[in-house]
Amino acid sequence: MAPLKKEAFDDDFIWGISTAAYQIEGAHNKDGKGPSIWDVFVQKKKSLLHGQHGNIACDFYHRYTDDLILMRKLNIYNHRFSIAWSRILPEGNGRINQQGIDFYNKLIDRSLELGIRPWVTLYHWDLPHALDRNGGWTNRDVKEWFGNYVAICVKHFGDRVKDWIVLNEPTVFCAAGYFFGIHAPGKNGLDTFLAATHHTALAQAHGARVIKSLQTDSNVGTTFSCSHVQPFSASEKDALAAERADLLLNRLFIEPLLGLGYPTGSIKVLNRIEKYMQQNDEQDLKFNMDFIGLQNYTREIIKHSYFVPYIQAKIVNAKNRAVETTAMNWEVYPESVYHTLKKFSAYHNIPPLIITENGAAFPDNVVNGKIDDPKRKQYLQDAIQQVLRAKQEGVNVKGYFVWTFLDNFEWAEGYVPRFGLVYVDFSTQQRIVKASGHWYAEFLK
Ligand code: NOJ
Repeated sequence: MAPLKKEAFDDDFIWGISTAAYQIEGAHNKDGKGPSIWDVFVQKKKSLLHGQHGNIACDFYHRYTDDLILMRKLNIYNHRFSIAWSRILPEGNGRINQQGIDFYNKLIDRSLELGIRPWVTLYHWDLPHALDRNGGWTNRDVKEWFGNYVAICVKHFGDRVKDWIVLNEPTVFCAAGYFFGIHAPGKNGLDTFLAATHHTALAQAHGARVIKSLQTDSNVGTTFSCSHVQPFSASEKDALAAERADLLLNRLFIEPLLGLGYPTGSIKVLNRIEKYMQQNDEQDLKFNMDFIGLQNYTREIIKHSYFVPYIQAKIVNAKNRAVETTAMNWEVYPESVYHTLKKFSAYHNIPPLIITENGAAFPDNVVNGKIDDPKRKQYLQDAIQQVLRAKQEGVNVKGYFVWTFLDNFEWAEGYVPRFGLVYVDFSTQQRIVKASGHWYAEFLK
């Protein structure tokens, strides 16, 4: 295969890097910030998380200037980062914390001075704890709480920020946080999941509408987690199981957004979401985004299982399939990026697509102050090649962001999986650019 060249893409193709507030900022209780559901969750679930937390993380809150300079040195001109809602509104609603506004003002100004374009995610999983006490995403009022917060961000930062991402991976935070209880706020059950799902979908469209109403020249999108889903065998049972998994993993949030309603069909129990719906909701769920962000890491192989409630389907672990895996135990399968792009591009009237996250975690070893990470580098090259393949077949894909810049707090997995292009020694906060980071810099030159 010919070596991968940036020139194979359009000149205006967007190349960047993605990060998230709770995973890198630290300073969890500094300068008037209120607690988020993750601040509380890491305290409550110490054993699940082996005592790990994001209290300090990469200390990006204090080190952002040096980190942005490093980003710039690596030729990265687009940085997708998130705003911590409870830095801006410590109680989630009402009183504004000026010091929180100041922090993001400095971060945005410094970025622009360095020529780095800020892509702001408004919600990357750190709901203010005060709102969770009132039900969080299970309370319909969250739509208005979120809308107010979004309006404050647009009013304070919209003179410099044009690119907005409303939500990060709604399926993941609703499922992990409100069905399985393995992410904050640690709630379990079908009802909390369905309530959270509907209110999140409403807030997604509402948030986007708020941005557009305040800033007509904004570029507004939202992001979805997606996986290429394939049945384990040729049996009809496995094919139907794969269809149900696909519905949950890929279709749940995009379809109402496109005006197609919830894809409840093959999972009967999802019809119970109607319990939370009011008149006009179906209409309100719809919004014409300027772009859709897709986040892909692997594929899932699905098998029928009588024992899994509601969906009678289960993921066949990559470990049991004798395939190469990452530190997340995800199959190394860069082609999934191609299939994901093809799948989403097949929706009628789909806006332009951007890969807003893609990357791989592998163990890293520092040898003589250097990190050689051939697997990560290969994965990124292969995945970008798959983006190109989709693009050459006519998919309207406009950008690609690597997850992620710095090794960071990987939620329930703590600090073990390292996704960064830049290694972080968490005892000293020293940064070391990995070989994959040098490769990306060279590729972007
Ligand atoms: C998706 C999430 O948006 C991000 O927070 C997470 O770290 C990566 N995927 C890797 O799991």
